[in-house]
Amino acid sequence: METQELHRFQIGSQYGTADNKCRSCVVIYDSSSSASAAVAAQIADLIRAKAQQGEQAVLGLATGSTPQGVYDELARLHREENLSFQNVVTFNLDEYWPMPPNALQSYHRFMAECLFCHVDVDPANVHIPDGTLPLEKVAAYCTEYERQIRAAGGIDLQILGIGRTGHIGFNEPGSPRNSRTRLITLDKVTRLDAADDFFGEWNVPRKAITMGVGTILDARQIILLAFGEQKTQIIQQAIEAEVTSAVAASFLQARPAVTFSLDQAAAGELKPVKTPWLCGSIVDSGQSWDQRTTKRAVIWLAEKLDKPILKLIEEEYNENGLQELLSARGSAYDLNIQVFKSLQKTITGWPGGKPGRLRRDGSVDVFPKRIVVFSPHPDDDVISMGGTLIRLCEQGHDVHVAYQTSGNIAVFDDEAARHVDFAAEFCRVFELSGNQESRRLERTMQLLASEK
Ligand code: PGA
Repeated sequence: METQELHRFQIGSQYGTADNKCRSCVVIYDSSSSASAAVAAQIADLIRAKAQQGEQAVLGLATGSTPQGVYDELARLHREENLSFQNVVTFNLDEYWPMPPNALQSYHRFMAECLFCHVDVDPANVHIPDGTLPLEKVAAYCTEYERQIRAAGGIDLQILGIGRTGHIGFNEPGSPRNSRTRLITLDKVTRLDAADDFFGEWNVPRKAITMGVGTILDARQIILLAFGEQKTQIIQQAIEAEVTSAVAASFLQARPAVTFSLDQAAAGELKPVKTPWLCGSIVDSGQSWDQRTTKRAVIWLAEKLDKPILKLIEEEYNENGLQELLSARGSAYDLNIQVFKSLQKTITGWPGGKPGRLRRDGSVDVFPKRIVVFSPHPDDDVISMGGTLIRLCEQGHDVHVAYQTSGNIAVFDDEAARHVDFAAEFCRVFELSGNQESRRLERTMQLLASEK
């Protein structure tokens, strides 16, 4: 698969440009599948290089939704390009505790289904923390897990995801730099994020066995993957904020040979992406003051100073790292007007086009239009464009909304039952029973009970 790398920054120097040999960096790809393919290729290179030297490749592996694309690509490389896993030894980061290995949410099962069943790895070389041990055996087991990693020669390449708490493995906030493999209590945010997999937060185990931060940092090379907007904030903290045990991933800043492989959404709050003008010359970094960057910079300045665009003055551009923009695009006065006008043009009272008005290319516009709005959930349409929808209808367009899910899977049965129960009780207390509404509620209760 073709991978497209968009940016590469060196970590720590806030921010120098990095070349391909840079030992610790942020790499931003056009998509998560590009990033996954690039990381899988790097793993494959390591496995092949080690095989050539007659050595084992020791991989540290992660679970969760993020690395799945990497595992799919590794399975493909095995199937189609003869990549053998016979010299591969693996250590997984973590497992819920307690957790039987065949349970739906078990990381043993995840690894088997996502990778191990599809490649020729020797099962004797696979290590995943055991979620079935009684409490009194866990500590000794964790010490043994550490010993096994050392006996294998240490981890050559560690793959990581990141949780919204900043955890790597399950090293929740408070995990020290030198922590080793141990039993840990999961953070509430982590349990909430896992709730869907467990059909409700209350079913998510409270504990897990995880490699420690120190165990992870001992790996010779580390790649942390993060994709999507839900990771934007924590990635910014992990890479740009202070190194602290409150965000375990921030410890990665302070060591060499770490790569943060991100998609554009996850990288969205990083300085070189959000405000590249604060990281040195835009032109020197190979970009230009095109319309898009200019607009972003001017809006950013107005928001930062909490001032209307038309009131921004030269001095303020200069004091906020935008001297280069001024010299590239003229005076503050011209710049302000130019950006203000381009924003003004985006506001229209006629979102579906005005009757009789020509399109930009001079052709006659259709009026009224048939409009289909795609709404992933049944409330996305009104939340994001309720006013526009009303206007489109008022102006005589034929508007349809296509809901892409009924939304029923977003509500757990217990919660639905609780609300229906409350409504039925309300009808009973206020003697509203017998009417159509309460009969409908009773039927709904029966349905929920019978489907359990
Ligand atoms: P995710 O989890 O890949 O499912 O987002 C990452 C993590 O919690 O470490």
